[in-house]
Amino acid sequence: MFNIRKKIYSVLQSEEVNYKATVMGWVRTFRNNQFIALNDGSTNNNLQVVAALGLLDESVMKRITTGACIKVTGEVVASLGKAQRVELKADSLEILGDSDSEKFPLQPKKHSLEFLRENAHIRFRTNTFGAIFRVRHSLAFAIHQFFNDRGFVYMHTPIITGSDAEGAGEMFRVTTLPLDGSAPKNEDGSINYKEDFFGKSTNLTVSGQLEGELAAMAFADVYTFGPTFRAENSNTTRHLAEFWMIEPEVAFNDLEDNMNLAEEFIKYIIKYAMDKNAEDLAFLSQRLEEEEKQKPLAERAGMGLLEKLNFVVNNDFERLTYTEAIQILKESSHNKKKKFQYLIEEWGADLQSEHERYLVEKHFKKPVILTDYPKDIKSFYMRMNDDGKTVAAMDILAPGIGEIVGGSQREERLDKLLQRMEEMNVPAVELDFYLDTRRFGACPHAGFGLGFERLVLFVTGMTNIRDVIPFPRYPKSAAF
Ligand code: 4AD
Ligand code: MG
Repeated sequence: MFNIRKKIYSVLQSEEVNYKATVMGWVRTFRNNQFIALNDGSTNNNLQVVAALGLLDESVMKRITTGACIKVTGEVVASLGKAQRVELKADSLEILGDSDSEKFPLQPKKHSLEFLRENAHIRFRTNTFGAIFRVRHSLAFAIHQFFNDRGFVYMHTPIITGSDAEGAGEMFRVTTLPLDGSAPKNEDGSINYKEDFFGKSTNLTVSGQLEGELAAMAFADVYTFGPTFRAENSNTTRHLAEFWMIEPEVAFNDLEDNMNLAEEFIKYIIKYAMDKNAEDLAFLSQRLEEEEKQKPLAERAGMGLLEKLNFVVNNDFERLTYTEAIQILKESSHNKKKKFQYLIEEWGADLQSEHERYLVEKHFKKPVILTDYPKDIKSFYMRMNDDGKTVAAMDILAPGIGEIVGGSQREERLDKLLQRMEEMNVPAVELDFYLDTRRFGACPHAGFGLGFERLVLFVTGMTNIRDVIPFPRYPKSAAF
């Protein structure tokens, strides 16, 4: 019964008229006891279903409410109305699932994003979230396409690990030990993880990079694309506790190759979504334009969404070193007029998101790749530069977002790596497997991590990261 269904997208897209079709979907609105706006998620555009007066019993008509699920068979005909090219003249209509319109959370009106976040289980059924999650899908697909076309091997790195890949200590513990104080203890009173499920202390991964590096030392070109978890208490519009990350790792690449790969990659996937999701992006662009109109002039982005995406795809990213960036920031009118919350006083300062956004949005007005950061503000695995002060790191900063990619050339020299680990208190015993890659056939290599939700934010023009992942996890919230 169900496989005869025609997707609304294909009904609307096709030039054909005067043929029989069966469609199924959810009612968005029902007007004048005749006109049903039906949506099945294949496109934001609704199919107008016309139920001629007298076709349906009063009792069925009452059940055609916003949110109800229906099946309609009829004839696709040219529409007399101006709003649509074709419509479906119903011959028969069946209610698959009722929806009490008094209780259904979505009413035919505009809802706030906050309200929809609280009703994330239903928000897929709105135009905005329909568009966002179709775009998200396309971006995910394009990522695999990009790497597959270039001969990369997709490596599934583990989600439960025993190491802290970033050395930042922001991990969720994984344990089956009781939490009521009865967990087995060592003589010194600490918990005895030898008795735990894995016989050691484990956590959810913060990054698949270390395992990615192991695979790159055999397949040369690999990538992982999976969920990562950070227990950082950041209640911002850019942070999630559970997010997806794409991490390529490439043997024989240096920092410049790494930047080239990242730039080509970002442009490719954005271009792919622009081609595949033109209607959804046009809708989101319109949405953003309306939202921008509510803001004071000084806070408006200036460029429309499509304009911005086109610009990014067609222009080179600006490349400069951390040292050059600090110079620009230090001399900026923002710094002099104390408009930054954290003033830039000297070389070595960690860049806050306000600084990143100043560089991208005010100074260069395009994406920026910053390289060669001070070693003290970056991770232990980054390759030490000859100056002994900076490492071969790169961050890509995007307008409206800030950091979207973090990566580096890796330290392939065993002695230098060991020295950095010691300086940064990264326990070498736990990472002995990792050090083996430096013992047996080490080579220069590089990689990066792209935060998937930050990319989706950028492409959809949304402003809160909680709106671009189906069910966001953040401090004090793990609903659904
Ligand atoms: O800069 P990060 O911490 O780099 C790494 O994890 C490296 N191991 C990646 C690599 O070289 N293979 O994270 C990479 C990216 C960031 O640039 C950001 O886009 C995203 O992951 N990210 C987050 N996205 C959402 N919520 C969070 N809490 C995030 N933390 C990082
Ligand atoms: Mg980073």
